[in-house]
Amino acid sequence: MDIIYHGKAKQFHLFNDRISYVIGIFPNGEPGQLYYGKRIHDREDYSYLINYEFRAMMVGKPDNECFSLEMNRCEYPSFGTTDLRDPAFEIVYKNGSKVTNFQYVSHEITDGKPGLPGLPALYTEDDKEAKTLKLNFVDDLTGVELVLSYTIFRDYPVIARNALIRNSGDEKVMLEKAMSLSIDLPDRDYRWIQFSGAWAREKYPVERELTEGITKIGSMRGHSSANHNPFVILKRKNTDEFSGEAFSAALVYSGNFISQAEGDAYGTLRFMTGINPEGFSWKLDPGEEFQTPEAILTWTENGLNDLSRTIHRLYRKRLSRGVWKEKERPILLNNWEATNMDFDEEAVLKIAKRGKEAGVELFVLDDGWFGKRDDDFSGLGDWFVNTDKLPEGIGGLAKKIRDMGLMFGLWFEPEMVNEDSDLFRKHPDWVLSVPGRERSLGRHQMVLDMSRDDVWDYLYERMHSLIAEGQLDYVKWDMNRTISECFSAAASPEEQGKVYHRYVLNFYRLYERLIADFPELLFESCASGGSRFDAGIMYYAPQTWGSDDTDAVERLKIQYGTSYGYPIASIGAHVSVSPNQQTGRMTPISTRANVAYFGTFGYEMDLNEVSDAEFEEIKKQVAFMKENRGVIQNGDFYRLISPFEDNYCAWMSVSEDREKAVFAYYKILSEPNSGRRKVRLKGLDPDRLYYIDGREFYGSELMEIGVEITETPGMEWKIPSGDFISKVFLIHSREKNGS
Ligand code: GLA
Repeated sequence: MDIIYHGKAKQFHLFNDRISYVIGIFPNGEPGQLYYGKRIHDREDYSYLINYEFRAMMVGKPDNECFSLEMNRCEYPSFGTTDLRDPAFEIVYKNGSKVTNFQYVSHEITDGKPGLPGLPALYTEDDKEAKTLKLNFVDDLTGVELVLSYTIFRDYPVIARNALIRNSGDEKVMLEKAMSLSIDLPDRDYRWIQFSGAWAREKYPVERELTEGITKIGSMRGHSSANHNPFVILKRKNTDEFSGEAFSAALVYSGNFISQAEGDAYGTLRFMTGINPEGFSWKLDPGEEFQTPEAILTWTENGLNDLSRTIHRLYRKRLSRGVWKEKERPILLNNWEATNMDFDEEAVLKIAKRGKEAGVELFVLDDGWFGKRDDDFSGLGDWFVNTDKLPEGIGGLAKKIRDMGLMFGLWFEPEMVNEDSDLFRKHPDWVLSVPGRERSLGRHQMVLDMSRDDVWDYLYERMHSLIAEGQLDYVKWDMNRTISECFSAAASPEEQGKVYHRYVLNFYRLYERLIADFPELLFESCASGGSRFDAGIMYYAPQTWGSDDTDAVERLKIQYGTSYGYPIASIGAHVSVSPNQQTGRMTPISTRANVAYFGTFGYEMDLNEVSDAEFEEIKKQVAFMKENRGVIQNGDFYRLISPFEDNYCAWMSVSEDREKAVFAYYKILSEPNSGRRKVRLKGLDPDRLYYIDGREFYGSELMEIGVEITETPGMEWKIPSGDFISKVFLIHSREKNGS
């Protein structure tokens, strides 16, 4: 890995064993994108990749009309001179002009990777793991500066980027758009895959063809959203799960965003991602600067599974932090689907006790323990324990739970308030709303103005005090509505365009402070399930509740889709009752567990209500997960059969040393007398012998011949007939000469 500067040509070559990224300074001083992809040889000068040509209707540089930005590939494109495509940034100057010409000034190459103050970002543990290039530009006329940062990692085919804009002039400017990343590619022969959905059906892969014009997704909901995820894959037409070129772009941010690709008239493609410019307007007084969030580019030539595995490993090791980052996650029992808000201490203890008998490790008390919170019309904001329900407070309950030998966790929804709450009565100006206009409600609640420091102070004091009182092991941090009427009573008219982003910054600051105060605490993020499931949140909360939809069949799709961009250890997944509360579907408890194993695992039900036989099965499930979660959560994950394309789903996790694997096969609807088909396993050592289902095979046999799983009587790999049947296979290696 290195970053080489070719001074004469003013070019930068960032490379590691797998990828190269070449940036050149254009004749007009702006940064150009010369190459991104598989590692290439270094050369002194790649200027042959800069185009000088003359086309009708083209505008060019006055001293050399053959040079036009629009005919070249830009690295952080400006708008309004010789390039009229969508720009990476927009600055409005005092006279109303939006034209900027950044000129290269200098650069620095350093070991390691600096953090981004107040923002989540990849990190290194050792300076030798990465190198960072900072390119400094200035707009001579106005004094506004641009700093582009690039980090290349030694061990990952990954580039992390961000941009900083500093007003070093003497007049205020308005920053109306500032992408984290923009890259122009020489062709648009890609297919775009986005991860879209809604509540209860998060992150379904959606593939689109790219053509002339803009393909775009985004969020204006104040959080990254279930509708679209800030993670996009661009793959070659023939790329599949196990072969072919692709790259992905993830925005490390939990608020409004866009990801877009613009195809031009000449077959090239501009990709960009960053904070959504809609609703964003950042006044920069002289001396002030704006830091964009980070964006991560990940590349592969070995198909989408390989791309995902790089992301999984990178996020587990260099985005997640703290004691929980690669620690096996506790098996939890959450009372939400069992009781909703209707509980008292006795009921809670009864549920927890049964969980302990089943082998569960962590009990989580969900919504309803605070304020006047008996339904979702009241109480949010009043983070004081409801002593009618819990007479001995959180401390008293926590002690009883801990005395049972369980860890204890609590649900919060800090960013919200109900009209019927003491907090709102006292501080009506603490909600986001436009004076004189109706305030929209979502789940009967309003959003607190997290951009305000007094709101932050209140929430910090309340959360800190309750976490300390209960000596909590875990916090579920929920957010159950989107932001509307985003207007802050504390901000000037000129600063209203800062409110969405300041909200996110203060939200991160609250997490950061609580993590510093309670470094052992495990956070699980949630936003009505997976509405704020993004790379940004992973920096604070190593796991996120995957979806409120706990139906096993639905979860196959949700978890399969989520696995493209996020590690298995980050996906909150639980077993719940049948018929399922969201879909009414009845599935066997074995299948519900077989799906939830591929996540953090736990139960979302009252285990007192299950039959004795089911309870015995649950005990075995818990024991199985304790034994195998290390491989499942921190191993290499392989998607084998997509539930989006088939009546089946299959996936597996393999330990890093390839000693052990867990392979799961799910049949959605029964297929009697079905056709023959084999599932070829992946990731094993071809030369090693493995035990599976009481028999012995070489890794090569399991991977090349595969296994045929069917409900046909007499066949070897048999699973029972019926709908929603599944089986998990444990695979253990035995050294060739071992026994
Ligand atoms: C959201 C969460 C659920 C539960 C409820 C409580 O819907 O996704 O898991 O915590 O809120 O109100």
